[in-house]
Amino acid sequence: MPVKISPSILAAPLAHLGKAAKDIEAAGCEYIHIDVMDGHFVPALTFGDQITAAISAESKVPLDVHLMVAKPEAEARKYFDLKPAIITFHYEATTAPIRLAEEIRARGIKAGISLNPRTPVSVLEDLTRYIDVVLLMSVEPGFYGQKFIEASWERLTVLKSLKAKGHPFEIEVDGGVSDVNASQLVEAGADILVSGSYVFKGDMKEKVKKLKGL
Ligand code: DX5
Ligand code: ZN
Repeated sequence: MPVKISPSILAAPLAHLGKAAKDIEAAGCEYIHIDVMDGHFVPALTFGDQITAAISAESKVPLDVHLMVAKPEAEARKYFDLKPAIITFHYEATTAPIRLAEEIRARGIKAGISLNPRTPVSVLEDLTRYIDVVLLMSVEPGFYGQKFIEASWERLTVLKSLKAKGHPFEIEVDGGVSDVNASQLVEAGADILVSGSYVFKGDMKEKVKKLKGL
């Protein structure tokens, strides 16, 4: 199955989010990636649940909500009624990841957990049975348009071997993804690629095709 593409709408012209959502649908993407930033876990402030609802109303593409917030327990609940495909929270932001993942799953939503570039992949060893997606940050969270961190390759290898031990999960890579590294990321085990600045510059349809290797 070709890799799934989740364009990060944060990199779209922000006054035209409805058009961006429609472009993502027309380009045949599997998800719309929503980068929720609260000004605490990361310095920037981006979208909350109300803007996410407005984006969602503009297309049929399932939402992939990435919570970069200091209190994911409180924030995640605000998205339940929007029925996103995935809600991902950060390992670094919660002391009770199992409880939160179970709460998300109980709503029929895939539970994702994200790791910052400096958090060892091994922290997931006791968690894989509770989660559906691991979102590996390949840049420090906070901004689009950053350079892919090369140490992510090694982290992907470790993650892939963790997946092979049982309790399979999908691997999502977020940050600095483009046609330069997409096929190698898929070979290394990525099931979902997030892409912001690359897909929103120029012809999105062509760029998505390139990311999918079509
Ligand atoms: C970074 C966000 C990413 C980002 C991706 O904090 O989580 O989703 O918007 O953008 P690019 O593809 O430009 O790195
Ligand atoms: Zn993201």
